[in-house]
Amino acid sequence: MSEVRMEYEEERILVPQVSDFLDLDRQFRQLMFLYEAAIGQMEARLEILNKEFQFSNDRNPIEDIKSRIKSKESIMNKLSKKGLPMTVSAMTHNILDIAGIRVVCPFISDVYQVARMILRQKDVELLMIKDYIRDPKENGYRSLHLIVQVEVPFSEQTRKVPVEIQIRTIAMNFWASTEHQLRYKKERQFTEEMQQQLKYCADIMAEADMKMQEIAGEFNTEQW
Ligand code: GTP
Ligand code: MG
Repeated sequence: MSEVRMEYEEERILVPQVSDFLDLDRQFRQLMFLYEAAIGQMEARLEILNKEFQFSNDRNPIEDIKSRIKSKESIMNKLSKKGLPMTVSAMTHNILDIAGIRVVCPFISDVYQVARMILRQKDVELLMIKDYIRDPKENGYRSLHLIVQVEVPFSEQTRKVPVEIQIRTIAMNFWASTEHQLRYKKERQFTEEMQQQLKYCADIMAEADMKMQEIAGEFNTEQW
């Protein structure tokens, strides 16, 4: 494999801070530490935003935050699916969801509010946005996906680390989590009928979200 598509300009590249003499396993663990640190940074910031919002608005725009680091196995599967070599550089340049955070909000408006609050931060750079709320996937999946690059200060230097942030409502999360269980746990293909039923459930969730948003809008907006 001679061609690896570079996603970043040279100076943005996340180069692992590792010495040549380290064994591969140790290199990998060190690299995973960068992603864990980035998750820690983003989670702490989200907590601050949530508490700040609580003080001024008497409610939280964030219901739940979950994070995960992609497993070595999943990383290798993804590299192989993309036809890329099993190298650290192929991984850091092409797999942007090694660090993942999922933020669950009560209202659709909170989803966008949280996204804006994150993107307003100076050392957070937006790499990609996918708005599956405005344009749901054909199967009914809805969520707002941001891929950002966050600066993480280490002792010697500051690193820019990519993090995938999925922001969705409680209703969207209910559908996605349940659909995920059905799809992966049973390792089976959905029949046409099952797909239709899942889409039907997704539409009900979307309607409920819209209705809740409408009800929220009937309150004095200054309180929200
Ligand atoms: P991946 O290779 O899976 O990362 O997909 P992608 O690069 O095309 O990105 P996309 O933004 O479409 O999806 C990334 C992530 O969103 C997935 O890993 C899931 O966590 C979530 N997701 C996307 N589509 C679905 C879906 O149909 N159902 C569920 N439950 N989750 C989904
Ligand atoms: Mg993914």
